[in-house]
Amino acid sequence: MTTIVTGGTGNLARVLRGMFPDFVYLSKNEMNVTNVDNVARIFSEYRPTTCIHLAANTDVAGCEKDHRMAYAVNTLGCRHVADACIQHSTYLVYSSTDYVFDGEQGLYSEDDPPNPINYYGLCKLLGEFEVRRVPKHLIVRGTMKQDEGWKHPKVPDDMYQSLLLYSQFAKILASLLQRHVTGLVNVGYEKYNLFEYAKRRRPDIEPIKRDDITSVRLPRDCSLDVTKLRSIVDLDSILGLTDTQSQWR
Ligand SMILES: NC(=O)c1ccc[n+]([C@@H]2O[C@H](COP(=O)([O-])OP(=O)(O)OC[C@H]3O[C@@H](n4cnc5c(N)ncnc54)[C@H](OP(=O)(O)O)[C@@H]3O)[C@@H](O)[C@H]2O)c1
Repeated sequence: MTTIVTGGTGNLARVLRGMFPDFVYLSKNEMNVTNVDNVARIFSEYRPTTCIHLAANTDVAGCEKDHRMAYAVNTLGCRHVADACIQHSTYLVYSSTDYVFDGEQGLYSEDDPPNPINYYGLCKLLGEFEVRRVPKHLIVRGTMKQDEGWKHPKVPDDMYQSLLLYSQFAKILASLLQRHVTGLVNVGYEKYNLFEYAKRRRPDIEPIKRDDITSVRLPRDCSLDVTKLRSIVDLDSILGLTDTQSQWR
C-alpha cells in the first residue's frame, strides 16, 4: 500500500509530509512529470496504490509567458501520470484550481461550465481531462495560502475566492482520501474577499486592484460552492472551527 506524491517539495506536499511521513514524496529531480520514461520508471519501482499528483508550474505569469512549458508540465505531466495510473490500477488524486472559471459568476458548483481566462487555468483544466481517464480518480479544485501569513504587502480588494490555508486544505484532502472519494469535488469553506481575508491576518496590508498586480487576466470571483464537500465530510469538525472567524485567529 504505497502512496506517492508528485511535486513532493511544494507547499502543499510539505504540509502533507508532516501528516503522512510514510508517503513517498518525489522531487522534480526524482520524477519529472514531463518525462514519460521517468514517470514510468518510478511507477514500476513503487507500484503505488495511490498517487497524489501535485507537481505543477504554479507561476501564473510564467505560464502566460511560456505556453510550451506550461502545457508540458501542467497538461502533459497529467497525461503521463494518468497513463501510469491506468497501467498500475492506481488511485489518482489531482489538485486542480478554481482558475478553471472566468470569475464572472462566483460560488461555482462542480457542474458549472469552466471557462479559463489565463493559460495556467487552461492547462490545469486540460489536465483534469487527462485525469478523468483513470478509472479511480479524484479531482479537487480550490485555492490555498501559506499558514505563516500573507507574504505580499498589497492584496487585491476586487477578488473573491474560497481560500483555505495549506494546512486546512491538507486536512480536507486527507479526509477525502480516507473515504476513497472519487470524481470532482470543490474544496473550500466560505467565500472571502482577498483583501479583507489578508487584513485580518496582517493588519498593515494595503489594497490594490487585480489589474495592477499583473498583466495576466485574473478571475474576479472564483469562489466555490462547497455543498458537495459538506455532504461528504464534516467540514467544521475537520477544520476545528466553531465559527467562520476562528480560522483567522
Ligand atoms: N496554491 C494554490 O493556491 C493552488 C490552487 C489551486 C491548485 N493548486 C494546485 O495544487 C498543487 C500544489 O500546489 P502548491 O501551491 O503546493 O504548488 P507549489 O508549491 O508551486 O509546488 C509545485 C511542485 O511541483 C514541482 N514541479 C514543478 N515542475 C515539475 C515537473 N516538471 N515535474 C515534477 N515536479 C515539478 C515543484 O518543484 P520545484 O519547486 O523544484 O520546481 C514543486 O515541488 C499544484 O498542482 C497546483 O497547481 C494550488
